[in-house]
Amino acid sequence: MQLDSHIKTLTEFANSHLDGSDDDQFITLKLEHSLKVLENAEQIIAGEGMTGDEADLCRLAALYHDIGRFPQFKKYKTFRDRESVNHARLGVLTLRGLPLPGALPAGHWKIVRLAVAMHNAKAIRPTIPAALVAPVMVVRDADKLDIFRVILEHFSNDPPSSSAVTLNLVNEPDDYSEAVYQAVMNAGLCDYHDMRYVNDFKLLLVSWLYSLHYQTSLSLAKARNYPEQLFSLLPDDDKIRRLRDTIYPLLHYKDSRPS
Ligand SMILES: [Fe+2]
Repeated sequence: MQLDSHIKTLTEFANSHLDGSDDDQFITLKLEHSLKVLENAEQIIAGEGMTGDEADLCRLAALYHDIGRFPQFKKYKTFRDRESVNHARLGVLTLRGLPLPGALPAGHWKIVRLAVAMHNAKAIRPTIPAALVAPVMVVRDADKLDIFRVILEHFSNDPPSSSAVTLNLVNEPDDYSEAVYQAVMNAGLCDYHDMRYVNDFKLLLVSWLYSLHYQTSLSLAKARNYPEQLFSLLPDDDKIRRLRDTIYPLLHYKDSRPS
């Protein structure tokens, strides 16, 4: 597979949405994110020993996973799906309409499109077809790993640079929602609808540490110090310390489980 020609295709498609305005930064941000997700996917593929078609499908799904972001932003001027369109579904439609390089069997493109469609689903049913598991899970892990990077860079700016990243949540340094805290504490999934404060969003990211599918992904998150960085951005109170003391041993256990 000629990955370079696919990278060129996505880059040209993204750049066709530039119009010389201030909004160009958002297009560039999403192109950069797509390429970083591909890089993360390469590390997961290598760490998990994936090869051949399976590895190639993971690469393509990673590269194209957010292709819907470009037409979404052009039309609606927002990345908020609830106020515009499900960008994963729009990504599938975009892929269908785009001339793509190389001769990939139709069945393979279908797998890539399904992985794109599922990349932002809250949870994945364990009954999905076996051929879909790697492309879907590699993309979801690789995407989460890059979102950690984007968010942590964002919060390290003082004041944080743009509300586009934090979805216009309330920034009260000491506040977070009990429902979100309890969900994370119980290793459950957070509901975006419960999120009210910026700290809730950070707690959501803590919950993602649990939901990384591959051991390689968790190792990458730990090697990049994402858990420590996340906790350093949360309030320093008893409940958050209890959460940290609960989560660290679990992360260590997950990391040392036999594969
Ligand atoms: Fe996405």
